[in-house]
Amino acid sequence: MAKSDSIEAILDFAIENEIEACKFYTDLAAKVDNPAMNPVRDKASEMPDGRQRRPVSNGMKQVFLDFAAEEQGHRKLLEDAKKGKTVKIGGEKIADLKIAEYAVDVKPTANMDYQAALILAMKKEKAAFALYTDLAAAAQEPAAKQLFQFLARQEAKHKLRFELEYDDVILKDN
Ligand SMILES: [Fe+2]
Ligand SMILES: [Fe+2]
Repeated sequence: MAKSDSIEAILDFAIENEIEACKFYTDLAAKVDNPAMNPVRDKASEMPDGRQRRPVSNGMKQVFLDFAAEEQGHRKLLEDAKKGKTVKIGGEKIADLKIAEYAVDVKPTANMDYQAALILAMKKEKAAFALYTDLAAAAQEPAAKQLFQFLARQEAKHKLRFELEYDDVILKDN
């Protein structure tokens, strides 16, 4: 799907991303207690490139669960908007919205370490923020604008939370 030729295609793309995000955070929440995510700081837990695997901060399990629930809510909002045909965007602006520009090609893997998972989470949130910001600008109806502005704010909040966690666990006291 290289071209976003209709608002339905864009909403389907956004809905698919929300489903993926919900699953990603649900899976992460389930994994944060695993030893692989909470390594002892020793030689044995070094990555092949010499970097230390970093443990997950306290409270992050709940953050992942909360965000999974929020992504689930976003999916519902978008599905309702699609069903109700409440989002109207002019043809010229639709042509400007290129789905590929908001796509994150990396997929989560089962043995992904915490650093890689946080990087992917930040990328996904950044892409979602950009998509909703541009949709808010393009949407004609005030209600649709507000919906996308709300979603953009939520994704910005998610991104910021992961940036703080990244600073805490990856960048500090290496
Ligand atoms: Fe979302
Ligand atoms: Fe998000």
